Amino acid sequence: MIFLIGFMGAGKTTLGRALEARLPGWRYIDLDQEIEKTAGISVSRFFALHGEEAFRQLERVTLTRVTHVDGDLIIGCGGGTPCYYDNMTLMNNRGLTILLEASHPTLLRRLLEAQGRRPKLAGLSPDEVSSYIRQAIDERTPYYSRAAHTFATDRLENIDEINETCARFIDRFISPADKSPDLISPAQS
Ligand code: S3P
Repeated sequence: MIFLIGFMGAGKTTLGRALEARLPGWRYIDLDQEIEKTAGISVSRFFALHGEEAFRQLERVTLTRVTHVDGDLIIGCGGGTPCYYDNMTLMNNRGLTILLEASHPTLLRRLLEAQGRRPKLAGLSPDEVSSYIRQAIDERTPYYSRAAHTFATDRLENIDEINETCARFIDRFISPADKSPDLISPAQS
């Protein structure tokens, strides 16, 4: 079981979905989407109606539930997941935690493109989003740094970059037995 963690915009969902498509037998589970299924409303709406504390409780319950799903799983967490209820301990006990890291300009660009569905960024100007990224990453680093590995995810902007980033990820973290035959280069087969 692999947990993708990292700040909003680091590419957890993009990479997780792309890996699922390239790794037969592996399944991607997006924690925010699981929460939305349970709650019947979007994460933004949930924050607005019930507040962050209730969200973090539901996030913990959902994380615990998905760690009991059988099979080869890649779980994409929310940016705040590692920082509540000792979720890092739970994840490190259950599988491999991988911190996805993108540069500040990359995060800012991605987050300004999709600000609407992120309750933590609601109502912030671009300058405020930029400062929030720095401040929140500082606060979250003690939790994020408990990940077993880090992986750079600046290059996820088009299909060529996604292919290249997935290949790099699979090479580093997926055992040869799990690789689809066409992902294994001739030198390895
Ligand atoms: C949050 C990140 C979001 C989502 C919620 C809170 C955070 O997930 O869980 O809006 O506190 O950083 P993504 O990182 O997938 O955007």
